[in-house]
Amino acid sequence: MSLSTIPVAAVLGHPINHSKSPKLHNYWLSLFDIDGHYIPLDIDPRNFENSIRALGGLGFVGANVTIPYKEKILKIADKISDRAAIIGAANTLTFLPDGRIYADNTDGYGFLQNIKSKYKDWSASEGISVVFGAGGASRAILGALLEDGSNEVILANRTRSRADQLRSDFGAKIKVVDWMKVQNYLSDASTVINATSLGMDGQAELPIPLNGLKKNTLVTDIVYTPLKTSFLEHAAKRGCRTVDGLGMLIHQAIPGFERWFGVKPDVSENLRELLISQ
Ligand code: ATR
Repeated sequence: MSLSTIPVAAVLGHPINHSKSPKLHNYWLSLFDIDGHYIPLDIDPRNFENSIRALGGLGFVGANVTIPYKEKILKIADKISDRAAIIGAANTLTFLPDGRIYADNTDGYGFLQNIKSKYKDWSASEGISVVFGAGGASRAILGALLEDGSNEVILANRTRSRADQLRSDFGAKIKVVDWMKVQNYLSDASTVINATSLGMDGQAELPIPLNGLKKNTLVTDIVYTPLKTSFLEHAAKRGCRTVDGLGMLIHQAIPGFERWFGVKPDVSENLRELLISQ
């Protein structure tokens, strides 16, 4: 293979040293013995558009996008997937051969696949979902729940206006309730999701009493540091089915890797351990 045909992808952000994406993609490149590269690129906000536009011509096949560019990238992209448009953010770019930039959002896909890979029979259509949080992660999750057949999602956020905005963007299947009252809806839920940053190392815990949770309810968290958040521990003690957030991070990376490098990777225990080490 000549040097010019070696595929290169990147994660674009500012700063970029927190990103686990290089570890993830380089693990798969080496596992499949693919002659390709995946690098972190710290993009200076002053040159954002020029830098992104230059990448295709430099031989990049694609990129992941992280903080603070996930929303801003939609202003530059030439083609936007429906799910990225409704979420209002993209995390996966493909530099098309004709020079155009295609922006997609795979966070919702990662969210669904993470649950379905552990509980094959689970579907968002099986009952009511309760979602805590109304930030970017929540947007991707609401889109995914509706796509998977959900008919009712109870949404609560500390700042109620952000939840109301999601209701107006996603429609009447979303029902907004007060942050201080959401505990009353847990006993009717078949799925409960923490889409806030609460419970993450160094952050406060979720202030929501969980004693209403029923046995077998599917409970999942976007937080994966720590892997077993106290939210998930409480849920497990109540006999709920629990799914940690690390798998969402891994699954959201799969469509990009497959598009750029031509192989669909799996989630393995070795990879999970690699990502939580350090
Ligand atoms: P992300 O894109 O990861 O979702 P975000 O847009 O900053 O990040 O959203 C973070 C979410 O965590 C929001 O729902 C936020 O609630 P607010 O909209 O009220 O800020 C929630 N969150 C963060 N810290 C919180 C806290 N101390 N109490 C309650 N909710 C909190």
